[in-house]
Amino acid sequence: MNEAVHHPGTRRSERRLAGRKNAERSIAGALAVGALAVVLALSPAARAQIPDEFTNLKLLDEEITKPELIAVMRSWTLSLGVRCNHCHVGPDNLQGADFASDEKPTKRTARRMFEMIRTINGDHLASLPVHESGAEEQPAREAQSISCYTCHRGQELPPRDLVDLLAEKVRASGPGAAINEYRRLRDEHRDAGRYDFREESLSRLARGFAETGDFESALAILDGAKEFFGDSPSLYFSEGMTRFSQKDLDGARASFEEALARDAEFVPAKRALGQLEAMIEKAPVQEGAAEKEPR
Ligand code: HEC
Ligand code: HEC
Repeated sequence: MNEAVHHPGTRRSERRLAGRKNAERSIAGALAVGALAVVLALSPAARAQIPDEFTNLKLLDEEITKPELIAVMRSWTLSLGVRCNHCHVGPDNLQGADFASDEKPTKRTARRMFEMIRTINGDHLASLPVHESGAEEQPAREAQSISCYTCHRGQELPPRDLVDLLAEKVRASGPGAAINEYRRLRDEHRDAGRYDFREESLSRLARGFAETGDFESALAILDGAKEFFGDSPSLYFSEGMTRFSQKDLDGARASFEEALARDAEFVPAKRALGQLEAMIEKAPVQEGAAEKEPR
């Protein structure tokens, strides 16, 4: 399932239900149209499996109507990219499903998640001051609220930080494998906004390894990054800084020059190159020369 089909109406209903105690009744009217569309989105056979009476609601208002409940459930389903039976006991087509059962751990986790959201929206975000709006004709904006989708982005588990994920890959299988993984994820999720694929992510990944003294991995990552960001002066600047930390002054100079070849006005590289040349002139390379970084 694709998060692009995330239903704005159901999302709003979920936020409101999560944000305000007993809000269900007051928004019933506003919800009805969206909820109806959602009910129709379930096949008649699936719909027939959903009981009219609910027997095990611990968080949702006991008086919630069937269309409202289905709207909430649909919204969770879309936010996580799953089907109803991810949380409920029963087959894909819901034949004979036991919705009241708490057997599945995912259902129990979903309750904790819902409580978390309710606290964040209801206690924390709702207590923030209303945004003042500059223009007179614009109404003041309410504080934002969060939803399941805020974290999950259409996945069972929220996407992890790309840099953490790639760092694990470097440690397990080396920089080459991490670059392959980056390429794969980028092809797959380019437009989904799930991961930050900008150059800064790969530079941050490399910096993490350089900081632990693993210059080899850092340089291999930056080298792999050229496939995607070969025109970027800051990538070559990062390479230059890594080589400098490694006390490879000639290498560092070559990298800074590569950075300037891509953008002659790129200030960090200009400055670093100037300082590096002054250093090389003044003192023949010695141990410890690299301790003072050119900045
Ligand atoms: C992410 C987990 C999750 C998904 C996916 C999910 N549900 Fe639920 N569902 C729950 C939780 C949790 C409750 C109990 C809410 C409470 O305690 O107030 C619930 C309650 C229900 C109930 C009321 C059961 C009763 O008798 O108390 C029905 C009916 C239901 N869900 C139907 C559905 C349908 C239909 C879908 C698919 C469109 C669906 N659910 C998808 C977690 C989920
Ligand atoms: C603040 C971020 C955040 C929000 C908002 C959030 N989740 Fe989660 N959710 C997580 C994280 C993180 C995990 C993974 C926890 C772990 O690793 O065990 C998770 C795990 C889950 C799981 C267990 C998945 C599995 O396969 O074990 C379910 C089910 C779930 N969330 C449902 C929901 C639902 C439903 C909502 C909205 C009512 C929601 N989440 C909102 C962060 C969030």
